[in-house]
Amino acid sequence: MGLKFLATARALPGCLVTNDDLAQVMDTSDEWITSRTGIRQRYFCAEGEGNTALAFAACRQALERAGLRPDQIALCLAATFTPDHATPSLACEVHGMLGLPESAPAFDINVACTGFLAALETARCLLAGGSLQGKYALVFGSEVISRVLDPNDRSTAVLFGDGAGAAVVALSDEHPFVSLLGARGDPEILCAGGSGQDDRYVRMQGSAVFRFATQIVPECIGGLLERAGCTLEEVDWVVCHQANGRIIDHVIKKLGAPSEKFYMNIHRYANTSAASIPIALDEMCEKGLIRPGQRVLCVGFGAGLTWGGALITF
Ligand code: UT7
Repeated sequence: MGLKFLATARALPGCLVTNDDLAQVMDTSDEWITSRTGIRQRYFCAEGEGNTALAFAACRQALERAGLRPDQIALCLAATFTPDHATPSLACEVHGMLGLPESAPAFDINVACTGFLAALETARCLLAGGSLQGKYALVFGSEVISRVLDPNDRSTAVLFGDGAGAAVVALSDEHPFVSLLGARGDPEILCAGGSGQDDRYVRMQGSAVFRFATQIVPECIGGLLERAGCTLEEVDWVVCHQANGRIIDHVIKKLGAPSEKFYMNIHRYANTSAASIPIALDEMCEKGLIRPGQRVLCVGFGAGLTWGGALITF
């Protein structure tokens, strides 16, 4: 059974931070950041702004655009590694703010940057399982990564941004959906959010993550196409997790694929982890780039290590 996207939405916090702004507070430059990553700016939450408000804004708009009332939602899934609280989950906080029905379960999925794709497949399986009351799921990725950035570590502080992206989905025979998810337990090369003073911040071995990403993303795209029984030519768009423009360029080169097929918006938002793919999908829908019937291949990778892909039919 496939998955239909009824609506998407996104929300960004109010604080726009350019590379030049960062260069005033740490030893970096617009030239270094742009040439190594493609990032030009990012949005950060202000003091006191939290993930719940950000996620709520995106989810409320997605519901409105889908033309649904809160009581029609059967499932609420958040993909995040930066919830406001360890418990209650971000999904439960948003559930309460939206007034979703008690019959709709709500929980967080932490698969780092792969989170939204894992949440979509989880939603599809739960909707298909028949235990839910209703047919629509609210699925969102929302992160406040600025909270776990070490201002004294320029090798990570310039790479990330805050944001939220949401989608309302339902099962559909006419919208084939193919998913692939994987993991390799390796906490050393990328981690964040530990309980100690030193390990609460994002710590990353940049070049190891780069090597992992440029190997796993083409493999994941190949695996997904094989599962779906189609070729890259038959796919209309590829949306990679927006971690680094250079990673996407490597992937394009490795696959010998046309670069116009690969959507990029990292220059506007930096790496928003689990929010990057739903934010990109929402932008593309808003710009009219994705038309009904088109196939969009999404692929993500992140801490864990984790990776995943979804071939979505709009
Ligand atoms: O969601 C997954 C998240 N992570 C990623 O996708 C990241 C993957 N990795 C990367 O994108 C790249 O490895 C980075 C962009 C993080 C780094 O690029 P790089 O070409 O691998 O640079 P590097 O780490 O080898 O550092 C080169 C130099 C170093 O200086 P020295 O030792 O050569 O003098 C760094 O200290 O660049 C320096 N550097 C900086 N300079 C200015 C590191 N960060 C900065 C900075 N501004 N922000």
